[in-house]
Amino acid sequence: MFSVKELVESGRLTCVPVNYIFNNTESDLHCMLPQPETVPVIDFSLLTSHDPDQRSKTIAQLRYACLEWGFFMVINHGVSEMLRDEMIRETESFFNLSGEDKREYAGTKLFDPIRCGTSFNPKVDKTLLWRDYLKIHVHPHFNAPTKPSGFSKVLRDYCQKTREVAIELLKGISASLGLDPSYINEKMRVESSKSHQLLVANMYPPCPQPELAMGLPPHSDHGFLTILMQNGIDGLQVMHKGKWVSIKPLPNSFLVNTGDHMEILSNGKYKSVLHRAVVNNKAARLSIGTAHGPPLDTVVRPATELLADGVHPAYLGNRPDSPHLQRNCLVYEVARLVSDEYR
Ligand code: SIN
Ligand code: FE2
Repeated sequence: MFSVKELVESGRLTCVPVNYIFNNTESDLHCMLPQPETVPVIDFSLLTSHDPDQRSKTIAQLRYACLEWGFFMVINHGVSEMLRDEMIRETESFFNLSGEDKREYAGTKLFDPIRCGTSFNPKVDKTLLWRDYLKIHVHPHFNAPTKPSGFSKVLRDYCQKTREVAIELLKGISASLGLDPSYINEKMRVESSKSHQLLVANMYPPCPQPELAMGLPPHSDHGFLTILMQNGIDGLQVMHKGKWVSIKPLPNSFLVNTGDHMEILSNGKYKSVLHRAVVNNKAARLSIGTAHGPPLDTVVRPATELLADGVHPAYLGNRPDSPHLQRNCLVYEVARLVSDEYR
């Protein structure tokens, strides 16, 4: 089956096919209730404000969010509701294209410019995910599907805007680490014509037995930051203090998480936090993430500025195309320092 959407639409599915059954336990899926804590909220307009007090307060909030959660919500980010809505509509229209149209983009390699499909890799996945996806490498080279016809323009605008938001957030995060605000953007070339940006759209059709299936299993993201929005249907859960916390984004907000390269660069201070997507039996959920990373030839290492006073690097340098990072969507351990390279 090319997509879960086709499976769901092919007939009256009353139970989850056996190859989609995940080893979830009831207590695991529901352990996050009730949740007294919520993800920190960052007011982007204060981060970019000319008032130094407001800016430094917001940088302190970013520091707290990165240290304690690895996830935060961003409000007043300046990306218009209209563009967000259009992006959601066009992406939905892409998933609504005929199977034949979408198969044109059924790439096979991680670095195919556009790739759509289902699960993670249905040829090797032992249990299939209740998820169809579209992945597009949008920077440094912009790629876009030719259908639906309005998609390309909206995609380009949306990716440009989210890149601008990521660059501002990275200034604040650099400062929150005690580094120069331009550190990550300049040293890691995120604000360059070669930086890497990947768009991943996930479609999770309604599932007859949501407690048995999984949209996306626990994983961390690569890159420095991921900026995520959804179509108003919840399903994201974040690992916080050993428990899964369900995330309810504020209207018109973005959810942002720090990725593996941030964990490496910050020498483990800002963790690349595990998250997953659960499914529901009521409505199709769409999420759209853009991952913002350095150029693909960059080897990210712990910032030497953070290694003063006898602090040792906790990671080997790593690149987004390192073999273990290609596993994407699977839990993996970032390579801890095992060699004598730094000793
Ligand atoms: C992701 O982690 O890539 C997407 C999570 C979501 O669907 O909310
Ligand atoms: Fe993710």
